[in-house]
Amino acid sequence: MKVGIIGCGTIGSEIAKAILKIPKLELVSLCDIDKDKAERLSLLFPEKPSIDSLSELISKVSLVIESSSQEVVRIAFPLSIEKRKDMMIMSVGGLLGKEDLLAEAEKMGVKVYLPSGAIAGIDGLKATSCANIESVILTTRKPPSALKGAPYLKDIDLSEIKEEKTLFSATAEEAIKGFPANVNVAAILSLAGIGVQNTKVKIIADPNITRNIHEIEIIGDAGRIFIRCENLPSPTNPKTSYLASLSAIALLKQIASSVKIGT
Ligand SMILES: NC(=O)c1ccc[n+]([C@@H]2O[C@H](COP(=O)([O-])OP(=O)(O)OC[C@H]3O[C@@H](n4cnc5c(N)ncnc54)[C@H](O)[C@@H]3O)[C@@H](O)[C@H]2O)c1
Repeated sequence: MKVGIIGCGTIGSEIAKAILKIPKLELVSLCDIDKDKAERLSLLFPEKPSIDSLSELISKVSLVIESSSQEVVRIAFPLSIEKRKDMMIMSVGGLLGKEDLLAEAEKMGVKVYLPSGAIAGIDGLKATSCANIESVILTTRKPPSALKGAPYLKDIDLSEIKEEKTLFSATAEEAIKGFPANVNVAAILSLAGIGVQNTKVKIIADPNITRNIHEIEIIGDAGRIFIRCENLPSPTNPKTSYLASLSAIALLKQIASSVKIGT
């Protein structure tokens, strides 16, 4: 299967290197707004993928992998649907408010792959959603410095926080506006479960931790599921959880395999 990657940063580079070892997948095209990044990445491959514009890439491949930004999702996803190209999306937040595109993809027979990203538990959430879900609560704990720049905290001096402090507790819809850096985790949970208006998000600043910690509690007809992810950063980017790249790689392996494990 011919694949192309839009966004040759942390996740895109890790995916590209992994594709070399996945039988049936062939990386033929790369696209990045920073052409040097795409060039540098292409040099790692014996059969150099071409460096293309977004629309050239979509024309050349049968699977488009997006690992760039939410803005790119809003441009590349409709184009992929129009050209009937399957797409894997990392910047899942870019789909919020664009759920009609998911319906359009379904209508056109275009497959859309949304990796679990920086969290675990999407398998249990999907299974529970086949019956009734009572509640989904995401609690994210970060060192105060990792929350810097969140619009919701613009009047708060994060350096003054000396012990664990809950800074936010509301719906995923509100969290996405106030904490855009958390948008992908809140988005995938909402899309897999009960939507942005019903999924609850709590954000805690904790000066005693060094990792980003996500806890997910799902209560429904199947019982209670509780998941805790203590994420290490990607080896090349402290802002990106390594688990996010690995989840995309695992999903690509699943696409290339006839054996599907897990929901
Ligand atoms: N699903 C998840 O849980 C999860 C986790 C981490 C990151 N992400 C998302 O995945 C995306 C990639 O993350 P990353 O850590 O690799 O980021 P990164 O900054 O390391 O890489 C992004 C790359 O995209 C390129 N880019 C930006 N705009 C572009 C455009 N218009 N056209 C082409 N290329 C463009 C940049 O030049 C850069 O090389 C981000 O949107 C991030 O929010 C999702």
